[in-house]
Amino acid sequence: MVFQSPGASTCMNCPSTVLKDDARLAIVRNSAATGKPIAWVQVHITPDYVYFNHSVHVARGISCVECHGRVDQMDEVYHAKPFSMSFCLDCHRDPAAHIRPPSKVTDLGWQWSTNSERNEELQMQNGTKFVHDWKVQKLEDCSACHR
Ligand code: HEC
Ligand code: HEC
Ligand code: HEC
Repeated sequence: MVFQSPGASTCMNCPSTVLKDDARLAIVRNSAATGKPIAWVQVHITPDYVYFNHSVHVARGISCVECHGRVDQMDEVYHAKPFSMSFCLDCHRDPAAHIRPPSKVTDLGWQWSTNSERNEELQMQNGTKFVHDWKVQKLEDCSACHR
């Protein structure tokens, strides 16, 4: 599916000062100069019969990286995760394994510890505590995602 982006002049508020001559932003500069909108290809999309909402996830400490991967390390955004029903359900069944402090949701490389074993331990301890304290539900009912 191809979308029209917001006016590139909006974006130019930033690249006119940041990465001024960077080739990767030429597409934005050209669009601002010619007034021709950028065709924005939406990469991540779920079918119409699936209900999805970002804010609830982000507010519950589910990081962008869980669903979109290391977008900060991609030259061009691709599907890091399948967005299949089982992908959604795997986490809904066991949110403790995925929850982090909400202040860290956009910090894509963030970990509890650089030691992977210790990281897993801390994830289970703290994730379980978050699930308990915030009363996070295991949303497995069909009606959660198909309304
Ligand atoms: C629980 C999974 C999940 C999390 C966490 C999540 N997203 Fe998404 N994101 C999705 C899904 C699913 C879609 C597709 C929605 C649709 O069908 O319209 C999407 C779509 C998008 C899009 C639309 C553009 C495109 O082409 O892909 C952007 C941008 C985006 N997300 C950014 C973010 C950012 C930034 C964060 C973190 C603050 C984030 N998302 C966290 C699942 C997630
Ligand atoms: C990495 C973990 C994770 C993934 C992946 C994930 N979710 Fe969630 N989702 C959650 C958590 C945590 C909540 C919050 C539960 C609560 O508030 O008690 C939630 C809540 C929701 C809600 C409830 C929203 C509301 O307003 O009531 C919907 C709908 C939902 N998710 C749909 C999806 C769909 C569709 C996908 C797959 C594209 C998905 N989720 C993938 C963790 C995840
Ligand atoms: C956590 C969110 C979530 C829950 C809960 C959920 N689904 Fe889904 N479901 C999805 C997503 C996402 C897709 C789309 C998968 C895709 O695009 O490949 C989907 C697709 C489907 C499809 C279409 C399958 C296909 O192959 O075309 C059916 C049927 C379905 N779900 C039925 C159910 C039933 C029945 C339940 C309850 C037992 C349920 N779903 C619970 C997220 C969910």
